[in-house]
Amino acid sequence: MIQFVEAKGFKIPLVGLGTWTLGGRDCARLVEQAIRIGYRHIDTAQMYGNERAVGEGVRASGLRTEVTVTTKIQPLLLAPRDVERSVKESLAQLRLDVIDLLLIHWPNPRVPLAETLSAMAKMKREGYARAIGVSNFTVALLEEASKASSEPLVCNQVECHPYLDQDKVIAACRKHGMAMVAYSPIARGQAKGDELLARIGQAHKKTAAQVCLRWLTQQGIAVIPRTAKIERLEENLAIFDFDLSDTEMKEIAGLARRGGRIVDWTYSPKWD
Ligand SMILES: NC(=O)c1ccc[n+]([C@@H]2O[C@H](COP(=O)([O-])OP(=O)(O)OC[C@H]3O[C@@H](n4cnc5c(N)ncnc54)[C@H](OP(=O)(O)O)[C@@H]3O)[C@@H](O)[C@H]2O)c1
Repeated sequence: MIQFVEAKGFKIPLVGLGTWTLGGRDCARLVEQAIRIGYRHIDTAQMYGNERAVGEGVRASGLRTEVTVTTKIQPLLLAPRDVERSVKESLAQLRLDVIDLLLIHWPNPRVPLAETLSAMAKMKREGYARAIGVSNFTVALLEEASKASSEPLVCNQVECHPYLDQDKVIAACRKHGMAMVAYSPIARGQAKGDELLARIGQAHKKTAAQVCLRWLTQQGIAVIPRTAKIERLEENLAIFDFDLSDTEMKEIAGLARRGGRIVDWTYSPKWD
């Protein structure tokens, strides 16, 4: 059974499927299979170019109403007119009734945040999205967004894994009553070869990747690991039948290091 984290009355499953780099029929099949075996959250984005395939997989599962589908507005389309147009386009690509969770993919300082949030709130009120949130937001931006938004912001999706100390962002999410969703939760596969995670895993009969995902979910952080391999879908979901001890949790936290970030989430002039 999947567990959830709740933020402002909105439930986000603790494990979801990331879909960046997936596309076409393989993506649709993987999404369908993931939902069949118990996944209840699928993460996509306008920038991934796979909303159509993700929607196909969700529909084919026959379990649409049980699944949370997240998509994200790309940073070039954060002006109110573009928000409205692109969200309608996302929904048309997905061919679903509603976007469950609509996020700003990356902040864009060239567009006033309050205007974007107000356009997203309008989309929510008009029934295009069930909930809204942000991604790649710093502590300062979370503060600004929380003040500016007329609708509850339910999550901040950021890079989060043992090699990166995200304690400040986690604390800011808690302060604002937002869930933290970890992207690249197994550090793009790096966790697989980690000696400490593997040793801890041996004691629990789990793999290093499972220990890594458990470390996050045990802190109430939702994870969206990506895999293109059907056989790994089960592995990444089977993390709720063991607990890490306090000592193990601290040992894993000790893996954080300078330069542990994989994705550069600073503003890029390419977006102008
Ligand atoms: N909001 C944002 O800006 C943002 C940025 C980055 C990512 N994301 C989202 O977060 C999702 C996940 O992040 P990510 O794709 O960067 O990295 P990730 O999920 O940490 O790692 C994916 C890599 O790990 C491998 N892997 C998956 N499960 C494994 C397992 N059990 N054992 C060993 N290796 C395993 C996969 O290879 P195989 O395919 O061979 O299994 C893949 O190469 C993305 O797909 C996307 O949906 C969002």
